[in-house]
Amino acid sequence: MSLSFAILTVSDRSFAGQREDRSGPALARAVAERGWTVVETDLVPDDIEAIRSALLAWSRRPDIAVILTTGGTGFGPRDVTPEATRQVIQREAPGLAEAMRAASLRITPHAMLSRAVAGIRGRTLIVNLPGSPKAAVENFAVIAPVLPHAVQLLRGDAAAEQGHRTAA
Ligand code: MTE
Repeated sequence: MSLSFAILTVSDRSFAGQREDRSGPALARAVAERGWTVVETDLVPDDIEAIRSALLAWSRRPDIAVILTTGGTGFGPRDVTPEATRQVIQREAPGLAEAMRAASLRITPHAMLSRAVAGIRGRTLIVNLPGSPKAAVENFAVIAPVLPHAVQLLRGDAAAEQGHRTAA
């Protein structure tokens, strides 16, 4: 199933040009490796308004099914990606964040420090991922297998009901 993504890197340092954004490109590669498409990427500072307006603009786009954010989910005073995401989503999808934290705990206890949230605005799924390239890709790998079915359901695709009956 073809899926289209937008990737938002949230980082003060990358926005200021002090650190190369390696997480956005790493995620874009992980998306492409699965045969899916990245239609937009952007870089914003750790600023609730900047994050919120990027998420709002992208969730109005019918050609974007999934928005991935990377960064700003930790305990730092400037880490506000979950708060911005909560302002945008209309329905939470806690299972995705729960699964990412559960799987990541097997890799590092620091997974407990991710406050990532996931949720739905309209027909768009928004998922927070941590900021390091390694963590972003590891967390994406956890949710990737369910994304086609998630998007089918979101888009009201009748074939998705079949998936419910036949899914293992
Ligand atoms: N999850 C996985 N799979 N691998 C990791 O290396 N790093 C953790 C966590 N989740 C990590 C992970 C760390 S160190 C932090 S602080 C939190 O994600 C939040 O990261 P962020 O502040 O960069 O968003």
